[in-house]
Amino acid sequence: MDISNCKHLRFFGLHLNSLACKCVALVVIALVLRAIFLPSFSSLGGIGNNNLFAVNNGPSTLNQELRIEKTQFLEVPQIIWGLNNQKIAFARACLTARMLNRTLLMPSLSASLFYKEIDLLQPISFDKVFQFENFNSLCKGFVQLGRYSEVSNQSDVFELRKGSGRRWTVKRDLDQLRQFRNNLYDGYEIIRIVGKNPFLWHDHWPVKDYARVFECLVLVEEISREADKIVSKIREIGSKEIRKIEPFQNVIDPVPYVAVHMRIEKDWMIHCKKLEQRSNISEICSSKEEIMERVGNIVGLKTPAVIYLAVADALLEDNSILTGWKEGLLPFEKKKLGVVEIYKKHQYLIQSAIDYEVCLRSDVFVGNSFSTFSSLVVLDRTQKMIKMGARNLCGMEAKWPSYSYNLRGESKGPHPWMTNMSNLNLQAISYGSNHVSC
Ligand SMILES: *[C@@H]1O[C@H](CO)[C@@H](O)[C@H](O)[C@H]1NC(C)=O
Ligand SMILES: *[C@@H]1O[C@H](CO)[C@@H](O)[C@H](O)[C@H]1NC(C)=O
Ligand SMILES: *[C@@H]1O[C@H](CO)[C@@H](O)[C@H](O)[C@H]1NC(C)=O
Ligand SMILES: *[C@@H]1O[C@H](CO)[C@@H](O)[C@H](O)[C@H]1NC(C)=O
Repeated sequence: MDISNCKHLRFFGLHLNSLACKCVALVVIALVLRAIFLPSFSSLGGIGNNNLFAVNNGPSTLNQELRIEKTQFLEVPQIIWGLNNQKIAFARACLTARMLNRTLLMPSLSASLFYKEIDLLQPISFDKVFQFENFNSLCKGFVQLGRYSEVSNQSDVFELRKGSGRRWTVKRDLDQLRQFRNNLYDGYEIIRIVGKNPFLWHDHWPVKDYARVFECLVLVEEISREADKIVSKIREIGSKEIRKIEPFQNVIDPVPYVAVHMRIEKDWMIHCKKLEQRSNISEICSSKEEIMERVGNIVGLKTPAVIYLAVADALLEDNSILTGWKEGLLPFEKKKLGVVEIYKKHQYLIQSAIDYEVCLRSDVFVGNSFSTFSSLVVLDRTQKMIKMGARNLCGMEAKWPSYSYNLRGESKGPHPWMTNMSNLNLQAISYGSNHVSC
């Protein structure tokens, strides 16, 4: 061993000759290694005591069974950022719990769009947004949510700190999680993950596992009724407008609509330009004119067609998004539909959930393949079609076609888009991609 170790030891008041120094240094290294590989001595002691306790207090087999049947939980930090990052973070927390064979304690979501101010996070309980019982019944056998009232001892907690930084690789993260599957930790009723938001955790799961969790997320009735109102308004006003243009034609009832998730607000334009430079991909940003042109050229789209523009609030003041569309396309946004008030009643997260639902239920969806919001809408639609046993998932032949306007398709239209459910991780969906699988 080298001199630096000896210096280190002398620091603790030890004066050693060279041989003793070597021995002590070796012992110190052994202790350090043990501390790294066995996260906590005192906590291991804790488990030992529990076992002793069980043996001392009656027939051990009975206690053994009780111990095994006690539900074990995973607790995660509050989930933050935009609706779709929150959904991904939630799914990641669920899949982590599944990996550790634990029930996820229902996490807090965040009602406000959080950037930096922690005190503005506005925690909102998961079950204020999504149906709790329904989640558990739809996801039975896959993942489960628990309530804090089910926990018998809230101080029986082991804190798991996830590593961070460049050197905390995907493999190290996975190794750590695998270690926590070990029954050494069975003694703890709760494993609490501390540190980073789940959205920033490493990803270890295939897209179809995420899709399986998303399937179980059903909005509470109060919110889905708001989405119903917006959708009926689109169809009702759209139908009137179509009748004005074609008074002698039969109008399909309910009248179909195309939802366009139009990302042209200033923040996005700055973000997407940077992304284009960094990734050396030139097809991320689309101007208003490009979106209008491509939507107007969707092959097989029957006109007149009702177009719902899902746009950031700032753009509602910009009337120019309603003009310049090809003849036969009838564009509406919240303001023109007169539904701004419905949204205004709600916090950011709920508004976003309503908009998501309106896009999800559209007959045709057009979005940006680098937007998480658009990507999750397409994943959801693809999953629904697969569940129905649909064969055609791309283009107008599909039951719920989706397109990406940032990628050019045939006849100067947008490129048909579906989610590749065989992807081995969520990278493409959470950070965007130009692989749209059609
Ligand atoms: C997971 O936990 C349940 C009870 O909580 C238990 O029955 C099952 O054997 C466990 N599975 C594994 C692989 O540990
Ligand atoms: C709860 O758990 C803590 C930590 O394991 C333990 O010290 C305490 O005795 C437990 N309380 C009960 C009532 O079991
Ligand atoms: C960016 O892509 C273009 C063509 O797609 C290529 O010619 C150029 O070398 C690339 N630049 C970098 C820095 O990779
Ligand atoms: C889907 O993803 C799998 C795995 O990454 C890949 O092998 C396959 O070619 C992809 N399919 C399409 C249509 O992109």
